[in-house]
Amino acid sequence: LKQIPPLEMGIKYFEMFPEEKDPLWQNPCSYKRHIEIWSTNKTCERLPKFLVIGPQKTGTTALYTFLAMHPTIISNYDSSETFEEVQFFNGHNYYKGIDWYMKFFPVPENVTSEFLFEKSATYFDNELVPMRAHGLLPKAKLICILVNPAKRAYSWYQHMRAHQDPTALNYTFYEILTASETAPRKLKDIRNRCLNPGVYVQHLSHWLEYYPSRQLFIVDGERLKSNPSSVMHNIQRFLHIEPYVDYQKLLRYDPKKGFYCQVLSNDRNKCLGRSKGRKYPAMEQKSQDFLKQYYHKNNIALSKLLERYKYRIPDWLQKDLSGQD
Ligand code: A3P
Repeated sequence: LKQIPPLEMGIKYFEMFPEEKDPLWQNPCSYKRHIEIWSTNKTCERLPKFLVIGPQKTGTTALYTFLAMHPTIISNYDSSETFEEVQFFNGHNYYKGIDWYMKFFPVPENVTSEFLFEKSATYFDNELVPMRAHGLLPKAKLICILVNPAKRAYSWYQHMRAHQDPTALNYTFYEILTASETAPRKLKDIRNRCLNPGVYVQHLSHWLEYYPSRQLFIVDGERLKSNPSSVMHNIQRFLHIEPYVDYQKLLRYDPKKGFYCQVLSNDRNKCLGRSKGRKYPAMEQKSQDFLKQYYHKNNIALSKLLERYKYRIPDWLQKDLSGQD
């Protein structure tokens, strides 16, 4: 038997098992051997109990803000790169490791009563995230928000225009939606980012391969807009969180903003910033027709999936499938 120094051993090991080069982080406290070498200064409690997984442009910032108003729900610290989102399980941050992730959370003072969480809207439709999230947080609860995927696509397009994305500025929404495979790469990229997250059935099925359905809560994004306190009521029940907070007292419809906002005093509200709840022209009829057709089969499959797992069918989906939308 030949002994070699650890670094060389590592190199040799990954030459022999290249498929293991990509890490899959797991909770160190779930394994006796890991706890033994885990520093005594560290705690596995510094990890979220639930995740808001997106998708983008469905009201995730509003939900994040409302959740953070709860006295025992604690959000992550802001990221210098991606603001309120940590975006650990997708992209390059995953390779920074568990310590990097844990530093986004305070050490809870009371592990049973406090609920750490993070929301990264990019998690929902990323191929790798369900497996990675489950690897580290198998007991975590998940919250996703579904709005009509056609509206989501249009909101994303408007978001890109507001960020001065040259492709979104140079092409109409309809041109982007109907870009063919021979179109310039940037046009296809933005088309995919408009359309793909809205294939909800595909992404949800993927999450449900890893997580049991009782750990996933689906928010109707239209209800989050029109009656956020009822959504917050249901979420608190889903999380089994205490104390129970009546959000009717914390949120108030702001006619100027056109959305519910946080109550600051009798005559003052704190609404989300200008980039949330933007004003833009209504979607053209031809884009609406295109998207209705595009998502039709997926929406039927989505409603079957939701029925199978005994989730409530969102109002917008019922309307869409009965041809009322
Ligand atoms: P629009 O700006 O297109 O209307 P996200 O935070 O996931 O990026 O979602 C942004 C969307 O949240 C907004 O899209 C808006 O419709 C929706 N939303 C839901 N509740 C809101 C609230 N209380 N205030 C502002 N926007 C809200």
